[in-house]
Amino acid sequence: MIRSSGFPGCGARVGTLLAVSRFYLTTPIYYVNDVPHLGHAYTMVTADALARWHRLVGDEVFFLTGTDEHGLKVAQAAEANGMTPREWTDSTSRRFIEAWRELDISNDDFIRTTEERHYRTVQEFLGKIYDNGYIRLGTYRGLYCVGCEAYYTDDELDEGRICPVHLRPVEEIEEENYFFALSEFQQRLLEWYESSPSSVLPESKRNEAVGFIKGGLDDISITRTSIRWGVPVPWNEEHVFYVWYDALVNYLTAIGYGSDPARFDAWWPAVHHLIGKDIIRFHCVWWPAMCMAAGIAPPAHVLVHGWLLVSGEKMAKSRLNQIAPSDLAAQFGVDALRYHLLADTPLGADGDFSYEGMTGRYNADLANNLGNLLARVSAVVSSKCGGVGPPPPPDVSGRLASTAATVLAEAVEAWERYSARDALAAAWRLIRETNSELEATEPWKLPPGPQVDAVLGSALEALRIVALLCAPAMPSTSREIWRRLGMPDGIEACRLPGDARWGGYPGGLAVEKGPPLFPRRSA
Ligand code: MSP
Repeated sequence: MIRSSGFPGCGARVGTLLAVSRFYLTTPIYYVNDVPHLGHAYTMVTADALARWHRLVGDEVFFLTGTDEHGLKVAQAAEANGMTPREWTDSTSRRFIEAWRELDISNDDFIRTTEERHYRTVQEFLGKIYDNGYIRLGTYRGLYCVGCEAYYTDDELDEGRICPVHLRPVEEIEEENYFFALSEFQQRLLEWYESSPSSVLPESKRNEAVGFIKGGLDDISITRTSIRWGVPVPWNEEHVFYVWYDALVNYLTAIGYGSDPARFDAWWPAVHHLIGKDIIRFHCVWWPAMCMAAGIAPPAHVLVHGWLLVSGEKMAKSRLNQIAPSDLAAQFGVDALRYHLLADTPLGADGDFSYEGMTGRYNADLANNLGNLLARVSAVVSSKCGGVGPPPPPDVSGRLASTAATVLAEAVEAWERYSARDALAAAWRLIRETNSELEATEPWKLPPGPQVDAVLGSALEALRIVALLCAPAMPSTSREIWRRLGMPDGIEACRLPGDARWGGYPGGLAVEKGPPLFPRRSA
């Protein structure tokens, strides 16, 4: 039996052994002329944690990211660097692949829009929309922002016809091109939103999308004759598809639209598109309408996150306020960076990055709480139990056992709401509670014996559960805790919620006293 995972989340997964839940997750594909910055990393880490959580609960996951390589901006950048667009994109897309590898991003596929598989899908999908009568020739005059690769209307621009995203003037362009009959989809889109209330989350962003649609939809220009760097329009090769129209189709290419119908049907439409709030219009208005026009169901879920700001401003190449994720990872560690990105900002809201904020959180949550707990427990196991961890008391009504059960339920519920932040906050409650139990009982002052064993057995079990709960956010840290606890099998083999229930730490294992997981940092 195949069950598709639908909002509000994965639901009752503890069903029959045969039940397989699928989780298809995408990120936006990144423009290659930018360098990977912390804003992109925020999207990627958020997506990665979700993908890892779904693998942890036993779902079949397909996690897709990639690079968006066509369009005027890329052609211009290639020329400025004395390269062909293809040479340029080959070198620049690699930066993203490397950046994501460095951040331990577990994507299953990396799509480049210059790949042949993508050309075929774009031509097939848009050809279908053309055959269905929703693409027509016309003349376009408009205000175009090269940075956004998008036309704007006057009222969407800042005073002086300035692009609100790139803060520079737009250009007036006129050309003959093909139009997608978006205006014909207003009613259908509104009905679709009506019938699927949780298709866009959070609700404020859904309201924004519905607001766009209610405001009236004009047909949109989807091809260009002014540039050659794009996917040729199959019925008129004078034109290439406009970059956004080609880019959105990546979500179909990777799951076999037009080439592998069984695979496509297995993954579509139960997709989760994770996007930044800057690209709502494209994903929540254009994209569902395009799907309808091609005769496939619109995407089931769009999750919208806010911007990660630096001193109140969005990171962008044009603003010179970009922070390279690799610099922060080198200073703080990959998992500390991942934790900070996930724990600080609720999905949908803007976050503000600062070194002070990151250092403060690192010291409080990672050095003083998690790191200190592991260090203490392993030190006392070494001094009082000869380095061999005692099993936890089986009583599930004890203080830590009942906290662990509550925390597990809260974490499951939080992930189902796509809230890594709340899931981590739950895990940290168990960490704090375990530290406070140790402080209350002071096993380091007691003689070896059953009382010490009971306290340490509980603390070791709590740490085992913490490792599992942290695994989506901090995969290497979780593996390291697991290893130091002496757990015989790899943490990757565990499945939640079952393996995070009280009593999984068997005892009798050699516990390693290692260096601090997160050495304290000076502010
Ligand atoms: N290529 C298009 C997306 C096409 S998807 C079919 C694009 N690319 S982008 O590189 O400019 O931005 C992609 C995404 O990066 C944004 O939507 C957002 O998810 C993320 N972010 C870029 N800057 C960001 C911040 N400062 N903060 C958070 N996310 C940011 O748009």
